[in-house]
Amino acid sequence: MKILVSGGAGYIGSTTVSHLLAAGHEVIVYDNLSRGHRAAVPVEAELIVGDIGDRAHLDGVFALGIDAIIHFAALIEAGESMKKPAEYIQNNVGSSTTLIDAAVANGVDNIVFSSSAAVYASQDHPLHEDSAIQPVNLYGQTKRMVEEILGWYHRLYGLKSCSLRYFNASGASKQGGEIRGENHQPETHLIPLVLQVALNQRESISIFGDDYPTPDGTNVRDYIHIDDLAQAHVKAVEALRDESDALWVYNLGNGFGYSNLEVIETVRQITGHAIPTVMAQRRLGDGAILVASSEKIKKELGWKPLYPELEAIIASAWEWHRTHPQGYSG
Ligand SMILES: NC(=O)c1ccc[n+]([C@@H]2O[C@H](COP(=O)([O-])OP(=O)(O)OC[C@H]3O[C@@H](n4cnc5c(N)ncnc54)[C@H](O)[C@@H]3O)[C@@H](O)[C@H]2O)c1
Repeated sequence: MKILVSGGAGYIGSTTVSHLLAAGHEVIVYDNLSRGHRAAVPVEAELIVGDIGDRAHLDGVFALGIDAIIHFAALIEAGESMKKPAEYIQNNVGSSTTLIDAAVANGVDNIVFSSSAAVYASQDHPLHEDSAIQPVNLYGQTKRMVEEILGWYHRLYGLKSCSLRYFNASGASKQGGEIRGENHQPETHLIPLVLQVALNQRESISIFGDDYPTPDGTNVRDYIHIDDLAQAHVKAVEALRDESDALWVYNLGNGFGYSNLEVIETVRQITGHAIPTVMAQRRLGDGAILVASSEKIKKELGWKPLYPELEAIIASAWEWHRTHPQGYSG
């Protein structure tokens, strides 16, 4: 297939591109490089620098003949979304609608969408796809809104879609020979932040609350390796191609929860560095436990995570951060 990957210069998108190429697909990356990196895009893929809100540009790209879209492009910071609501709504919902509408107008009927665990209400047991939807931040709300828009385009135009609700994407990939890792600006994800302490780029790591109803009192989260996530996209886009009708939603996580303290301890063991911690107040909107049940995608699409252990995830992330302490060069 010829696949348009929006946001393919970002963390998850670029690794997915390398897996799509390995599976024999042709890939066009479409990214405005607002948060992504030219150097992250595999050389075998074509990079078109553009914004998903630019309809005229998109129509030109669709004229190249596109079979399917994997739509990663978004602003992704929950905290930032609460301070810049209009920017998040405009970019994540408004511009996604432009992309979806352009796809349908140009005869593309297959789209895989990066949704998020942030659509769910916080619950202290593994979340299923039919668990209560109640985003606690505007970022999660924008993801939910796009899921609903995909529902309407399915109803109105028969658009086939698969929304993948990821939990915490993590680790680094060597798919295709080059290492690709996490390089967000600003960085808010726990594993890269703790690794920055190991690299002496940050003095300590803050733990926001140690009195949660969890075994060690700190938040428990589900971490999924970037190669496992990428593989799920390959499976989803290929499965959509083979279906005549689809409006799918799948969770993507490991089903294992690891506490903040477990992450920090594993980083200590793998890096051999001291990791000073600072106890801070709980943050608004942080649930005690956020863990996925991914049974549905395992059963229906045959997806199977290959790197579920925290040690493997952190070891791969450490290799990336150790060898690229300043991230991508371009
Ligand atoms: N990182 C995670 O743990 C996580 C968890 C759940 C869901 N997600 C979702 O996965 C997707 C990818 O996340 P990521 O961690 O790779 O983020 P990222 O910031 O590394 O990648 C996002 C990419 O989208 C591009 N982009 C943003 N707005 C654009 C626009 N209007 N037009 C064109 N390009 C645009 C950015 O330049 C960037 O390259 C996002 O949709 C995010 O919401 C990520």
